[in-house]
Amino acid sequence: MDETTKQKVILSGIQPSGVLTIGHLAGALKNWVDLQNDFRCYYMIADLHSITLRQVPAELRQRTIETAALFIAAGINPETSTLFVQSQVPEHAELAWVLSTYTGFGELSRMTQFKDKSEKHPENINAGLFTYPVLMAADILLYQADLVPVGDDQKQHLELTRNLAQRFNHYYSETFKVPEPYISKIGSRIMSLQEPTTKMSKSDPNMNASIFLSDSNEVIVNKIKRAVTDSDALIKYDEANKPGVSNLMTLYHLATGRSFAEIENEFEGKGYGDFKLAVGISVANWIAPLRDNYFEILKDKKRLQDILTQGAEQARRVARKTLDKVYKKVGFVRF
Ligand code: TYM
Repeated sequence: MDETTKQKVILSGIQPSGVLTIGHLAGALKNWVDLQNDFRCYYMIADLHSITLRQVPAELRQRTIETAALFIAAGINPETSTLFVQSQVPEHAELAWVLSTYTGFGELSRMTQFKDKSEKHPENINAGLFTYPVLMAADILLYQADLVPVGDDQKQHLELTRNLAQRFNHYYSETFKVPEPYISKIGSRIMSLQEPTTKMSKSDPNMNASIFLSDSNEVIVNKIKRAVTDSDALIKYDEANKPGVSNLMTLYHLATGRSFAEIENEFEGKGYGDFKLAVGISVANWIAPLRDNYFEILKDKKRLQDILTQGAEQARRVARKTLDKVYKKVGFVRF
């Protein structure tokens, strides 16, 4: 391990508002695991973000613990990476308030996720949904993160985070590290199996559209068999014209490590039936150990609580330092 990269910091998070999908694994968790040995990592369960949409309280509590179990099942080592629940580190909400006074109304109005979510939930367009990217900036800047591994849909929020860091640094003096996004070329946008021009989402009401990390092998194989493709009967990577096939090729690549050219060769002259079966089996084999681990880890709630309690303590120590600096700079009295 290189000493210079060892000191560098990663922060990322996932909302605990539903069963995670293979999209979360491909876009975020997989990279979290790959990067964890070379960076000081903080991985967070973003429960403050979750309440921007209405949650059932008991379910939110349950999902929070389940999400922690999934992080570990996916390969995050709680001995070396800090795992914590966002609401247990009050500095996130505190810094978000300060940053919100440096954020323009117009800037937030341009956030595409805000527009999408407001369209999906016209009955609950709350102020939190609007200011949510500021909270995300606070999450990242509190830890002086160098790198933020996320899926493609978070790119715009990362751009805002960078702008806020630069703006604050410019107005006062160097306070925040300006973070870089880490977005994989392949897998940063896994599409719905039923509507391959839209992103796979845990809240999709069509159960066949998403592969959940808790799905059995049989369910995974069946969902992929039913995946929407096209009528060309040609296995070729072409996102614009063959989004369904390209999405399945991406999943096959992630599960087997084979390149797109190798996959095209492998299925030359074969039909979608053979292709989908091979994708289904390889994806099921990829998910199976994670799922089995997950159910095992979930049995020991006490261990999970201990990990999260310790994680919150570690996170608070770092977060407090940054917040103290910020409070001093903006002119709050410190006794
Ligand atoms: P969330 O909870 O919606 O998703 C968590 C992570 O998974 C990625 N992701 C996907 N990647 C590829 N294909 C998909 N279909 C797919 N669906 C989800 C997301 O891009 C994300 O990286 N606001 C964030 C959570 C958050 C956060 C942070 C992230 C809060 N604070 C600070 C990074 C840093 C969110 O709602 O992600």
